[in-house]
Amino acid sequence: MSESIRIEDLHKSFGPLEVLRGIDLTVESGETVVLLGASGSGKSTLLRCINFMEMPTSGRIYLNGQLVGQERGGRMVYREADLCKLRARIGMVFQHFNLFPHMTVLQNVMEGQVTVLKRDRATAETKAMDQLARVGLSDKAAEYPARLSGGQKQRVAIARALAMDPDVMLFDEVTSALDPELVGEVLKTMRQLAEEGMTMLIVTHELGFAYHVANRVLFLHEGVILEQGAPREVLKNPQTQRMREFLEGHSLFKLPD
Ligand SMILES: Nc1ncnc2c1ncn2[C@@H]1O[C@H](COP(=O)(O)OP(=O)(O)OP(=O)(O)O)[C@@H](O)[C@H]1O
Ligand SMILES: [Mg+2]
Repeated sequence: MSESIRIEDLHKSFGPLEVLRGIDLTVESGETVVLLGASGSGKSTLLRCINFMEMPTSGRIYLNGQLVGQERGGRMVYREADLCKLRARIGMVFQHFNLFPHMTVLQNVMEGQVTVLKRDRATAETKAMDQLARVGLSDKAAEYPARLSGGQKQRVAIARALAMDPDVMLFDEVTSALDPELVGEVLKTMRQLAEEGMTMLIVTHELGFAYHVANRVLFLHEGVILEQGAPREVLKNPQTQRMREFLEGHSLFKLPD
C-alpha cells in the first residue's frame, strides 16, 4: 500500500485556543479511516486543515508522498496556486449539502469539472451521469435540489465530489443533519465507496458504520489522537477512561458480540 495523506505534528490554534496539539496521522491509499471525538474536540478543524480551508499553525501535510507547501527558515509557506491544485485532489462533503439551488442536479455535478478542471461540457456531463449512477440517482439528473430528500441531496454532494476524481475523500458528519430514516442510504453509498477502494477519512457518530466499514478508528481528544486501531480493538476494548466515557455516551449503539 502507498500513503495517501501524511500529517506530521500538526498544530492549529484560534487565538489563545490550541485546538490541535500535535497530530500525526497517515492514511494509506484505499483505507477507510473513521475519526471519532466529542463535540469541540477538533474533528472538523483537522479535516479543514487537510485541504487548507484552515491554515495549520504548524506542521506538515503530504499528499501522495509530496509535501504541500515549501519550508523556509523552519516555517511552511503556501502559494495559493499550490493550494488550489491540492484542493482539487481532495473531495470534501459536509453536514450541509451546499448544493447550488439554482442549478439542476446534473449542473451541480458538472460545475466544478468545468470551472476548476476545465473539462469540456460533454466530458463533464458523461462523468456526472456516471457518478450519479454510482450513487443511485440517475433519474434525478434534471431535478432541482429543493425537490430532493436530504439523503438524495447528500448523495448528489458525494457524486459532485467524486466527479472531480479526487485522490481522497473527506466526510464531515454527512449524516448528522438527516432524518433517521434517510441516514442508511447515505451510509450505504459510503460503504460501497469503501468497498471500491476509495481512500476516505470520515468524521461520524455512526459507530455501527465505524465498526463494520472502517479499517481503522481514531479517537481525538483535547487536540491529540488518544486512541487508534482496528474498530474491534478501539470500540470493544478501549484503553482510556475518556474513550470509555465517549462510548457510553452513545448508549444506543450495541456492538455485535
Ligand atoms: N474559525 C474558528 N475560530 C475560532 N474558534 C474556532 C473556529 N473553528 C473552530 N473553533 C473552535 O475550535 C474547537 C474545535 O472545533 P471543531 O469544529 O473542530 O470541533 P468538532 O470536533 O468538529 O466538533 P463537532 O462534533 O461539534 O462538530 C471548538 O472549541 C471551536 O469553538
Ligand atoms: Mg465538527
